Amino acid sequence: MGRNLHETLHAGPWSVVRGPWSVVRCPATVHGMNETYESIISLRALREYEAQPVSEEDLNALLEAGRQTGSSKNRQNWSFIVIDDRAVLDALSDAGDFTGPIGNAPMVVCLVQEPEGYEFDTGRLAQNMMLAADAIGLATCPITLHRDEVARDILGLPDGVRCRFAITVGYPTPTAGPREMGGRKPLDTIVHHNKYGS
Ligand SMILES: Cc1cc2nc3c(=O)[nH]c(=O)nc-3n(C[C@H](O)[C@H](O)[C@H](O)COP(=O)(O)O)c2cc1C
Repeated sequence: MGRNLHETLHAGPWSVVRGPWSVVRCPATVHGMNETYESIISLRALREYEAQPVSEEDLNALLEAGRQTGSSKNRQNWSFIVIDDRAVLDALSDAGDFTGPIGNAPMVVCLVQEPEGYEFDTGRLAQNMMLAADAIGLATCPITLHRDEVARDILGLPDGVRCRFAITVGYPTPTAGPREMGGRKPLDTIVHHNKYGS
């Protein structure tokens, strides 16, 4: 490519689509832009939250968006652990390498993979919940629990049940914005036609 990653991520015919942050960009010529599409392409991980607890109504809306997610063979092999106890949140911070957002968040929703669940389904779940959260004014960040054996103990998971991912949830602070590294590679560097490399 002849460019470093930073230059690549920030190159291209971008335009700002929303938010006070300047790194939120999308191709300027997207056809048929509507509100849903716009929120999909502008969703970002936000890591700064107000201390205010998440309302029951908003939490239920978030969980409902998760429940409605499609899954392989419609198995729905997932469950949620809602954590708002600061002692448990602090303990969970030790289960991953980049858990800083947990320290700022009033709530974490752990995405539990039940037996025969697929990680792909967990990804769909997370994205649907993040988009729904965004639509109702909540900010989220995915969190990887790299040491899921630590998470297992904290969460009391039985054998065969696993939790590798969680999302932090909270109302964004006025200055919350995505990290600078949150740009995207230009399409022409990631799309192949019929065969890899062409
Ligand atoms: C599977 C997955 C795991 C992630 N784990 C973490 C994490 O542990 N800690 C964190 O701060 N961000 C995490 N993120 C957020 C990414 O760092 C973020 O989505 C990426 O830098 C792009 O930024 P943007 O979504 O704001 O554009 C994760 C994202 C994904 C998709």
